[in-house]
Amino acid sequence: MTKQTVLTGITTTGTPHIGNYLGAIKPAIEASENSNLSSYFFLADFHALIKCHDPERVARSTREIAATWLALGLDTDKATFYRQTDIPEITELTWILTCMTSKGLMNRSHAYKASVDANRESGKQDDDDVTMGLFSYPILMAADILMFNAGIIPVGKDQIQHIEMARDIAGRFNHTYGTLFHLPEAQVDEQTQLIPGLDGRKMSKSYDNTIPLFASSDELYKLIKQIKTDTKEPGEPKDADNSTIFQLFANFASAAEQSAMRRQFENGIGWGDAKKELFEYLDDYLAAPREEYNRLMTDMAYVEQQLHKGAEKARSYATPFLDQIRIATGIRPLTYQGAAPVQQEQKKEKEQSAEQIAKAEEGRRRAILMQLKPMLDRVEAADDKAAEAKLLITEKEELVATLKKKAKQKAQNELDLLRDELAELLV
Ligand code: TRP
Repeated sequence: MTKQTVLTGITTTGTPHIGNYLGAIKPAIEASENSNLSSYFFLADFHALIKCHDPERVARSTREIAATWLALGLDTDKATFYRQTDIPEITELTWILTCMTSKGLMNRSHAYKASVDANRESGKQDDDDVTMGLFSYPILMAADILMFNAGIIPVGKDQIQHIEMARDIAGRFNHTYGTLFHLPEAQVDEQTQLIPGLDGRKMSKSYDNTIPLFASSDELYKLIKQIKTDTKEPGEPKDADNSTIFQLFANFASAAEQSAMRRQFENGIGWGDAKKELFEYLDDYLAAPREEYNRLMTDMAYVEQQLHKGAEKARSYATPFLDQIRIATGIRPLTYQGAAPVQQEQKKEKEQSAEQIAKAEEGRRRAILMQLKPMLDRVEAADDKAAEAKLLITEKEELVATLKKKAKQKAQNELDLLRDELAELLV
């Protein structure tokens, strides 16, 4: 049995924060330890160019994200960890898929529509500042996924539509050229969607409420102190379930540690003390990977080499697969012989129609033979059947020679049939 492939990409525009860690990085690294799965994780740096035109930021984010995953213990022998732009096959596949994507499908993309809506609200032209990159973003993402025939795509809710679009595009390709692609499925973990940021809303770069995963101790404490709380005084019982402090704590702590903290809330722990406890817990939890992260950030040659290893592994799948894809579409070496690969369904259709053609051919043949029956009877009735057969064919040949176009073709068909029928007598 071939393993299911889990694949996810991280756009390289930001600094990894606690929400990214809990929602994406940690579950992905855990999945990569599962030997029943084959995992592909990559830095989506071409995706970064869609929304960020600050080269320093893209470059820095790429370093930070790569170092983060490695510092957290991603085993690059188990997972395939690479950079999108190291796999030229993805870009090439993007074009092939672009030709399989209806524009109407892209018109419906949330990311594009959100830009149009924002433009309308501010009285601008619909497509103001909308690049073709943004418009066709889902096609690049489909190529990321389909290039490795990935089945499970762990993503946030905002990405579900893109996975649906990848399925659509794959379906159209399969229908047109034969089945080469699996249809991927989004995997959304409801629990991890709920990581709150400093202001209590979902932790997200776009709300500017994040806690960088590898902030220094001082910075970490400073940020935790900014977490929004209600105005309850020390000594007043507090509602753990509605507290950002408790929720962040709970996402890291064990069940026993959580119930101990819950009791402290019930007993009226002061907000300052609760923040201090959260800080100490996180600081301790993150200390070792943070040290490794800081070390890796000064050893980019090593990180680069890890990504190269990943690219090599990824390409060992992508290169031969893209060859198949190209051949299926008719982009072939001029000397290529043989049919397109793996077009099972279409082959079946062709076999059926070959059978139908044979049946129709047989019917046609019988119809002509009915008309030729008097001639065949003449041969049958003759004393010297062979001589009569030869005579008949000669007459027919002479007739064919005098005829033109359609009539000639018809007579030629009859002659061929007669030759067939009388073959034994004509030797
Ligand atoms: N667009 C995704 C995001 O912004 C990142 C991404 C790019 C991705 N390619 C992908 C995720 C392929 C999953 C699969 O989060």
